[in-house]
Amino acid sequence: MKNHVVIFEARGGSDKGKYGFRKDSKPIIDSLKKRGWTAEIVFYSDKDRGEIYRYTVEKADAYISRVNPGNLNSETGYFQMLRELVSNGVEGLPHPDAMIAYGAKNSVEKLKGTPIVPDDVYTYYDFDSLKDKFPSSLKKGVRVLKQNRGSTGEGIWRVEALNIDKIKGNLPLDTKLKLTEAKDNHTEEKTLQEFLEFCIQYLEGENGMLLDMPFLERIIEGEIRVLMLRDNVVNIVHKKPAETKDAFSATLFSGAKYRYDKPEQWPELVNSVEKSLPLIQSRLGNYDLPLIWTADFILDTDKKTGEDIYILGEINASCVGFTTFLELSENIADEVLALLDAESVVNPKWAAFKK
Ligand SMILES: Nc1ncnc2c1ncn2[C@@H]1O[C@H](COP(=O)(O)OP(=O)(O)OP(=O)(O)O)[C@@H](O)[C@H]1O
Ligand SMILES: [Mg+2]
Repeated sequence: MKNHVVIFEARGGSDKGKYGFRKDSKPIIDSLKKRGWTAEIVFYSDKDRGEIYRYTVEKADAYISRVNPGNLNSETGYFQMLRELVSNGVEGLPHPDAMIAYGAKNSVEKLKGTPIVPDDVYTYYDFDSLKDKFPSSLKKGVRVLKQNRGSTGEGIWRVEALNIDKIKGNLPLDTKLKLTEAKDNHTEEKTLQEFLEFCIQYLEGENGMLLDMPFLERIIEGEIRVLMLRDNVVNIVHKKPAETKDAFSATLFSGAKYRYDKPEQWPELVNSVEKSLPLIQSRLGNYDLPLIWTADFILDTDKKTGEDIYILGEINASCVGFTTFLELSENIADEVLALLDAESVVNPKWAAFKK
């Protein structure tokens, strides 16, 4: 063992302190130091990729990835390097493919039919399937259409078809839509045709995709973010959208109010998450659960029993921050060490342990 961890960050973005690092990375380094380990932050760039790769393979037992892929020019080079590191014995926290599987918006669709995701959730990867299927899902009720890449509510649209009560059969392409974007809760009107064409931008390029899910009107009671350390619920953030007309966004920029709760204050939700973990893990590719990740839930009412249920809106696993509870760095360090310890006792990469 080298007793060293490399933390990857990207330059830029809004999550950095005055020295250009994430404010919640230094505490991880300090907590690892207390345990007799060392750690350092390395800024990833495509240009330095080879050097960073060689350095990390030589110096580190593990990397912790704290990069928002949105801050990179292209995520391909970064993910390739991580994959190479993992296959050369560096423990990936998380594995690049786990990061992709958990972080993509289609993770919600992959959990369709489980207690945390309803059946009428769809994904569209090309214009033809969007054009064929979205109008009929919209006819049944108000929808939320989510682009894969965006963050902070950009390209997340609440879509409501207007005056369609009397329409039999398919919605005509000139149906008027009321659109509200989660970025700032602004509304606009487009025809169905205009909106479908507007959405082409979200389908193009690397990882273009749209997730289509029912609009959950109880979002006004708040979105509930569950912060996870592997399989442990460690904190809850209750995010209440602004109390203005049309507001449904839980992003800070849009005026939502945040409250920080303890898991004990949300026993049913915690129970629902814990019960769902094996399913989440297997449906998302059977990777180890990410070190730090979040799952966002919105309340709904079970039509049969009238009980409250929690519906998954999205998962984040690539760059989860914890500046509001920095003491979490202690648990993170414990978790990293426990993991590497287990690896060194029974190293799955040794031939004798290969399945
Ligand atoms: N099905 C839904 N019903 C009602 N409101 C929703 C639904 N899905 C999302 N929202 C609202 O829209 C907001 C933005 O959606 P989402 O969190 O999926 O994307 P994002 O914020 O762009 O991604 P990220 O949180 O990674 O930045 C949520 O915070 C929530 O307030
Ligand atoms: Mg979100």
